[in-house]
Amino acid sequence: MGAIEDYSALIDAVESQRERLQGPATEDFWGGSNAKRFRADPKRGMEDNFQILASFVRPDDVFVDVGGGAGRLGLPMSLRCREVINVEPSAGMCQECQELATEFGMANTSSVLSDWVEAHGVEGDVVHAANVTYFVREIGPFIAKMEAAARRRVIIAIYSVPNPMHNATLFKMVYGEEQATIPGHTQLLPALWEMGILPDVRFLPRGTHFDGVEQLPTFPQTKENAVEMALAGIWLAPHHRDRGEVVVREQFDSLYEESDEGFIPVWLPDAQQVLITWETGKTV
Ligand SMILES: C[S@@+](CC[C@H](N)C(=O)[O-])C[C@H]1O[C@@H](n2cnc3c(N)ncnc32)[C@H](O)[C@@H]1O
Repeated sequence: MGAIEDYSALIDAVESQRERLQGPATEDFWGGSNAKRFRADPKRGMEDNFQILASFVRPDDVFVDVGGGAGRLGLPMSLRCREVINVEPSAGMCQECQELATEFGMANTSSVLSDWVEAHGVEGDVVHAANVTYFVREIGPFIAKMEAAARRRVIIAIYSVPNPMHNATLFKMVYGEEQATIPGHTQLLPALWEMGILPDVRFLPRGTHFDGVEQLPTFPQTKENAVEMALAGIWLAPHHRDRGEVVVREQFDSLYEESDEGFIPVWLPDAQQVLITWETGKTV
């Protein structure tokens, strides 16, 4: 099998495991509370890793944010370029993004409710997808469309340990088996090579830095907040919340280290952001 087929096979395994353990996905998987978790103040101070992303974007650019969700990155980018188009198949995510855009008067942002591969006529100078490729079975057509839609550059941002696997330890505790592997850069890069794409790959600094100064992480201050933190995220089906809570409370002492700073989660992997980018060579 080639790398693109291997990629699809991994997504098939992830989806069949999810369906077997959690039942069929809801119609708008990313809507509701998931979409709320991705809401962020578009005018917040942006960390240095965002500035690295923004350094590829020019004031005159149209920035296409593929699977841009609630605009966590696209809305701050809209302050730095001509226009942002969020192409997003989740109605709940689009709604959050447009509510924020209206609230903050960001008239140069629009959301197109569509799967990327099915979207018609969307083009931009930079075409970007952050934390999306983990979920894309047809990775070949998805990438080919990014390449075709980008006048200057494609940017794919993911984490060295895919975000949906950050809670793999909790997943195993609750569901009693290893979480199926979600494809990250180790599977995506060979798929790109198979398509003749040789991107620049940058591993960005760990942690949160503003103007080069590290901001230390904050941890839950109470046990109840620590339990809430463990139960958040797509790893746990909403209808398994009670079951998850029982396990997290039972295993609490192996999941958290109590310190002066609060409850420090010890199951989270040491992941760093990976920027995969290339010029499409259509314009300079
Ligand atoms: C983890 S969220 C990331 C959202 C946003 N990019 C961010 O980093 O805040 C993943 C998003 O990918 C979107 N997505 C999944 N498959 C997609 C596809 N085929 N085309 C476009 N978006 C997709 C989902 O709807 C969801 O909003």
